[in-house]
Amino acid sequence: MCGIVAYIGAKPAQSYLIEGLKRLEYRGYDSAGLAVLEGGKLNVVKAVGRVANLEDKIEDLGGFRGTIGIAHTRWATHGGVTEFNAHPHTDDRNGIAIIHNGIIENYAALKTYLEEKGHKFQSQTDTEVLAMLIGELYAPQEGVDLEAAVQAALREVTGAYAIAVICEKEPDVLVVARKGSPLMVGVGAGEYVVASDASAIVSHTTQAFVLDDYNVVKITRSGFRTSTIHNVPVTSKIMQLELELQEIELGGFSHFMQKEIFEQPKAISNCIRGRLNMDEGRIHLGGVGNFSKELSKIKNIVLTAQGTALHAAMIGEYLFEDLAKVSSVAEYASEFRYRNPIVEENTLVIAVSQSGETADTLAALQEAKERGALAMGVVNVVGSSIARETDAGVYLRVGPEIGVASTKAFTGQVAVLSMLAMYMGRKRFMSADQCRDLMKDMERIPGLIERICEQDARIKKVTEKYIHRENWLFLGRGYNYPTALEGALKLKEISYIHAEGMPAAEMKHGPIALINDGMPAVFIANKGRQYEKVMSNIQEVRSRGGHVIAVATEGDKDITKYAEDVMYIPEIPECLSPMLAVVPLQLMAYHAAVLRGHDVDKPRNLAKSVTVE
Ligand code: AGP
Ligand code: GLU
Repeated sequence: MCGIVAYIGAKPAQSYLIEGLKRLEYRGYDSAGLAVLEGGKLNVVKAVGRVANLEDKIEDLGGFRGTIGIAHTRWATHGGVTEFNAHPHTDDRNGIAIIHNGIIENYAALKTYLEEKGHKFQSQTDTEVLAMLIGELYAPQEGVDLEAAVQAALREVTGAYAIAVICEKEPDVLVVARKGSPLMVGVGAGEYVVASDASAIVSHTTQAFVLDDYNVVKITRSGFRTSTIHNVPVTSKIMQLELELQEIELGGFSHFMQKEIFEQPKAISNCIRGRLNMDEGRIHLGGVGNFSKELSKIKNIVLTAQGTALHAAMIGEYLFEDLAKVSSVAEYASEFRYRNPIVEENTLVIAVSQSGETADTLAALQEAKERGALAMGVVNVVGSSIARETDAGVYLRVGPEIGVASTKAFTGQVAVLSMLAMYMGRKRFMSADQCRDLMKDMERIPGLIERICEQDARIKKVTEKYIHRENWLFLGRGYNYPTALEGALKLKEISYIHAEGMPAAEMKHGPIALINDGMPAVFIANKGRQYEKVMSNIQEVRSRGGHVIAVATEGDKDITKYAEDVMYIPEIPECLSPMLAVVPLQLMAYHAAVLRGHDVDKPRNLAKSVTVE
């Protein structure tokens, strides 16, 4: 994933570009760069590392006053993290500069062709090949202007791209295009701000449109023209951005991840608001209403996602079978899309994704749709690629999630999947009273999360005891087996401690060999159908010298006999417990990362949304 920002208007582009990069830096931060056209000349500056490094270099150069420019934060896919490989990339003949999010899959063949044409490459990236190809096709004297050259080049390309292109010979033109990677255009008064997502646009304008796949937009200060790569004109629909600035500011917290953990009570309140109809004892989900009949006939559910979203999807698997009695399975999207899957008649595919831009999840959804499945999205970002690809869907409504490690989006995904399972259950065997009881428990969740967050100082103390341990286990059963996987992912992706999650029963089948003296084993041991079994697994760890850290139900005194440390969560029906059990695990991961001195919001090698395969 990476961040793309571009500006054309009457004011100096530099401040728009730098501010935009800072807003988008969470999407990828290996290197940063910008190109500003000033007096018909391209000024290109690049820096490895954070946007601040780029800002320092620009300051040393005295800054730029040009009113058209492009800027990029990179998450490297082709070519190491070096200044040469940082974007923007230029061609070698026409003063064309390009920034790119995605992968040009046929870049090697194109590079060979271009080298035979005499082009000399500076970098190892696929993006530079696209810059050279546009340059090779650019022939204004033959009517192939920048827009036409970009269209022609994109007709030769396979892969994914969101690009912005400028050229010294057309200083009043900005050309942008997308396929598979997100890009939107903010429409201001005589100015346009183009970016990967709304967070870099909303401080300048709330009017924006999203590019569709194969769209090419030529932007000048007086307007814009949208067409396809075959130059067929299309109409772009301008929408009102709902993002509020304070939602993307830190607001007194030390990190976005910390803010988003503590925001979960509000986030879940927003997520369920208006969707629990107590009078009728049923769930109301606007985004699926048109498919009520089809949903009654669904015989199979395939949930597909990656990472944290997959863990939520795995909880969904239990929820749909438990509450709706529909056969369900959660699948890695990256596996499902290539496995030649069997998709039976009356199958519902649910793509779960915070960003709505994860390439593998989008492709898996498209594959299932192609095979006749009804396609549904459980997504946070409104208007994202996955949201637009589905027949029906439910937005999380948890607000923008900036921290790379997903927290409130996870609990939001589980909340939506819980409501969806109740919705489907009411179409089958669930009574209004049963649904009403669960809805009353759903309404308690925000306050209960608040109560868990009040234990933050104590959870930090527990974490401190173990941060020097380089290997942890996370174990759970039933609904909280995926929660254990999520706890392990949280810890490893921001503290860089190796952590493995698994079903508690699975430990005996090999991993127990890992247990040595003092090894931390986190058990999710809240009251539930398999509580006694989990207690036995705890004994197995203790008898081999492992240190047990337990997430347990308030009032459980027995657990203190077997666990070195206990973090309590309030009593709740087991099917809703992952939304509570995950909170202590999120806080542990957060404190471990801070105590180990890591960048919580921008962990090494990661990006917020993986829009490449
Ligand atoms: C979560 O902490 C990770 N950053 C990552 O696993 C993420 O959940 C995954 O990339 C899926 O992203 P999505 O929800 O935007 O599709
Ligand atoms: N594939 C390009 C590169 O490696 C773009 C990566 C990105 O999306 O940031 O530079």
